Amino acid sequence: MLSKEDNELLSQTAAGTPMGNLIRRYWIPALLSEEIPAPDCPPARVRLLGEELVAFRDTQGRIGLIGEHCAHRGTSLFYGRNEECGLRCIYHGWKYDVEGNVLDTPAEPGDSDFRKKLRHTAYPTHEAGGVIYAYLGPRDKMPLFPNYEWTQVPLNQTYVTKCLLECNYLQGLEGECDSSHLSFLHRAVDNARNQPLYKTDTAPIYETEETDFGVRLIATRNAADKQHYVRLSAFVSPVYGCVPAGRATNELDGFEIHTYVPIDDTHTWRYDIGFHRSRAVQEDEVHRRKQIGPDYLRIRNARNNYLQDRQMQKTVNFTGIEDFLNHDACATESMGPIFDRSREHLGVSDKAVIAVRKFLLSSVKALQEGREPPHIVREARRNWFPHIDCFAYLLPQAVHWRQHFDYLTISAEKENPAAFACRSRPNSLMTNGTPT
Ligand code: FES
Ligand SMILES: [Fe+2]
Repeated sequence: MLSKEDNELLSQTAAGTPMGNLIRRYWIPALLSEEIPAPDCPPARVRLLGEELVAFRDTQGRIGLIGEHCAHRGTSLFYGRNEECGLRCIYHGWKYDVEGNVLDTPAEPGDSDFRKKLRHTAYPTHEAGGVIYAYLGPRDKMPLFPNYEWTQVPLNQTYVTKCLLECNYLQGLEGECDSSHLSFLHRAVDNARNQPLYKTDTAPIYETEETDFGVRLIATRNAADKQHYVRLSAFVSPVYGCVPAGRATNELDGFEIHTYVPIDDTHTWRYDIGFHRSRAVQEDEVHRRKQIGPDYLRIRNARNNYLQDRQMQKTVNFTGIEDFLNHDACATESMGPIFDRSREHLGVSDKAVIAVRKFLLSSVKALQEGREPPHIVREARRNWFPHIDCFAYLLPQAVHWRQHFDYLTISAEKENPAAFACRSRPNSLMTNGTPT
């Protein structure tokens, strides 16, 4: 459990809150590229960490993320005209560029330099892999954009979806740090889905280790024939959960990154980013898209009880609800908008959740004391993360996961691109079991 004070400390992310200050020190997803697909296209509303913003792509393709409300008298710039390298307010025609400069105040006298004294809220952005990231922290503290593997692969080898989660971001994020729910929440009732590894051992043994980027999470289950089933995932500070997901485990050559970005304290954007190292993504792999309607709202949501089917719950799967995305949403949204963690009862199976909370709490407290947050990239030679990885493999019990994946011990501080290119994969791959 968490004390009420620590629960509030981790849950609240508005400007000026300790956790809000921490998240603002990192680059975080702000919207999808597809929301502003072309120069001079309509702008998009963006609500992020309690701030009302608007994003636009100007005539030259540059991306602006600026305060939604016009600096003049507050009309929403969402309704503005995106034209000739700037966004123009529809009320009196004030015009802004991507950096928040006021380019034009046409209702003022011609000789007025009023506009030059103004600077509208504007945040830096970086577009990679179909996502537009933003940095909302102090300018003098802005880190390099982290070159995560999923931001570096060709676009056709990656996919991304976004959907609304109607609860605090931490509830979603903690779901990524909990391997034991695979055995229940995502379970198929019959064996058609081929999940024997989750079913035979529902109480995995957890190991966690703090790293420079966050926490590495290892869940090990017993398996037949003197083997064990090892799932390795990662929490990457401040809001990323990396999980071995996708098709059959023996085909994994990438992983998924599930990101929980606070809209405000009771609403979250969940971004799912997946990538392959060696091949293009196929359409059927992005099954989640079928679950998400217009405006990035899930078709199955709390207002329709996730379209739970009680007959399906008897005969098809554990929840009677379709798709993992909705299982996770039902489990985390039904806790309430912000769960009071002083009321919970944590067990051994929550070891990884506890480790992630501890990491976040110590990061928040360190920042409050004036120390730099972890995993802030300032040097190009350190902007490289081969040791952020995930896998799910069936291994002989005598083989320790670290022994088999020694590249995981590579420090990002050592410049060694060769290790990144030559990462090895075990030959003794499992032949059944379906990862999330
Ligand atoms: S309110 Fe925007 S120009 Fe007046
Ligand atoms: Fe899940």
